[in-house]
Amino acid sequence: MEIKGRDFISISDLNAGELLGVLERAVHFKRELGAWRVKPSLTGQLVGLIFQKPSTRTRVSFEAAIYHLGGRPITLNSSELQIGRGESILDTGRVLSRYVQAMALRTFGHWEVEELAKAADVPVINALTDLEHPCQVLADLMTIREHFGDLSGIKLAYVGDGNNVANSLALGCAIAGMDCTIGCPKGYEPDAGILGQARSMVGRDSIRIVHNARDAVEGAQVVYTDVWTSMGQKEEHRRKRDLRHYQLNSDLLTVADAEAIVLHCLPAHRGEEITDEVIDGPRSAVWDQAENRMHAQAALLDLLIGLD
Ligand code: CP
Ligand code: NVA
Repeated sequence: MEIKGRDFISISDLNAGELLGVLERAVHFKRELGAWRVKPSLTGQLVGLIFQKPSTRTRVSFEAAIYHLGGRPITLNSSELQIGRGESILDTGRVLSRYVQAMALRTFGHWEVEELAKAADVPVINALTDLEHPCQVLADLMTIREHFGDLSGIKLAYVGDGNNVANSLALGCAIAGMDCTIGCPKGYEPDAGILGQARSMVGRDSIRIVHNARDAVEGAQVVYTDVWTSMGQKEEHRRKRDLRHYQLNSDLLTVADAEAIVLHCLPAHRGEEITDEVIDGPRSAVWDQAENRMHAQAALLDLLIGLD
């Protein structure tokens, strides 16, 4: 498995073998970090992290991963860059790629990360766009694998807004051979192009959309939700009204598999898409999931730019 020098814009930039390779490397890092034995494969390497939207986990988990691997992150918020005064993200990225060995970008338009990858001479990583959140899904799949030992055939239900996380999850499930059901109101479905791409890998029956939360969660081994209003989205009031029957609460969880785990990419809007008793309850794996962002991204960077 060789992904050195590549970009990571979509979770579908990895095939099944490559995805498994990243996840296995992430497990390796988690173990080695626990024993203070991480090989510093990013020694002397700089990684630029550009944020055009807020971030807690992505920023800190990338910075921590880079630190543990012996590299140095340079985190840049768009408000303190010339981007804030009108310089294009492309020109910015083109210049930064002369200074750093890899770049991650969190922004609005997915095309911006794609264009940046074309312009840059170093690997470009998608740290969230309106369309996808592939780094998140690496950690999600790692967490599911930790619990169930394998991914193939695992039944995942996502309830709520068919957003960037749902898009990447549908693709990730397809690549990993999982069964994915998305429960959302009409008009809140994931991106049609992404659904088509996911279904072309595993068939229509493995990537389903239903318009009822209970139908989605019935028998699921993983129950996932995310905020109803993502960064950059408007009409929060309307969205809350339309999505109110898709809350992940203890009642909904009763129809899931008895051993089901609950995931949420965070930040959570407690009392909206998820209740306190579920996120803080015995089925919740969200804190492990958040920790795994660091291990998964360490694995990704090691494989993309690590010194042998
Ligand atoms: N899950 C996630 O990406 O969190 P942040 O927005 O805090 O980075
Ligand atoms: N869907 C959310 C994910 C945040 C990590 C958003 O885009 O705001």
